[in-house]
Amino acid sequence: MTMDSVGGRRYLMCRPTYFAVNYKINPWMDPTAPYDTALAIEQWTRLRQTFLELGHTVEEIDPLPGLPDMVFAANGATVVDGTVLAVQFRDPERADEGPAYRSWFERAGYAVHEAKFVNEGEGDLMLAGDVILAGTGFRTTHAAHARAQEVLGRPVITLQLVDPRFYHLDTALCVLSGSDGTGPAQIAYLPEAFSPGSQAVLRLLFPDAIIASVADAEVLGLNAVSDGKTVVLASQAVELAAALQERGYRTIGVNMSELRKAGGGAKCCTLELRPGGGATS
Ligand code: ARG
Repeated sequence: MTMDSVGGRRYLMCRPTYFAVNYKINPWMDPTAPYDTALAIEQWTRLRQTFLELGHTVEEIDPLPGLPDMVFAANGATVVDGTVLAVQFRDPERADEGPAYRSWFERAGYAVHEAKFVNEGEGDLMLAGDVILAGTGFRTTHAAHARAQEVLGRPVITLQLVDPRFYHLDTALCVLSGSDGTGPAQIAYLPEAFSPGSQAVLRLLFPDAIIASVADAEVLGLNAVSDGKTVVLASQAVELAAALQERGYRTIGVNMSELRKAGGGAKCCTLELRPGGGATS
């Protein structure tokens, strides 16, 4: 076995201790509907346990009261080659999460670069092999894409999101292999969530991509976490799971129904910490 064989990803997660749906910043959120924080914690704990059983390492950031969306750690930063690009949220409701995540990284000894523009982290900036696929249209701005390219030193491919239900790139597209920056990237996505030009770009770059159905996307099935072999995804995304298995991936279904009330799934709860050091690792 080589040192970096199966497993071995590092993720940052945030326990949904203060999870709530008490404001509306995306179409999934209904502040008048009931939610169950205990159930959200249970579903999140199972997701965390799944990663541990797959051999991954899970770091945790302490949740803060008054920040009900802080569980969505993917929005906390973008980490490529050990370099951290901080975030700046669009909505004031989430603004204080930026400094909270930033100080976690600083305390952990990372060099952190300021966001400068609205940028919601890995929700919109997804490493796929050598390149960063970058969503815009709802949250992360185009200016932030240029900033990401400069700070992270990877070519950034801008993708225009057009459906408000799929407001972050990670709700419309999943990086199946190469999310750690190694090897060729394979993706799954929902074409309808992108502008015609961006659909053409995705077809050109990923001719072998798995095309997801609206039904799969509507259960946030694309908001999945892949280590290149195993894909952890919403248990309700049955067609997508079958398509993944056909391509040789192992799938593990997780029920994220409670967190979905805030518009998030498995990937939203998971921030990948990609180490630097390349050949020395
Ligand atoms: N309620 C959160 C928001 O609208 C959900 C974030 C989901 N995160 C993600 N990476 N897609 O910002």
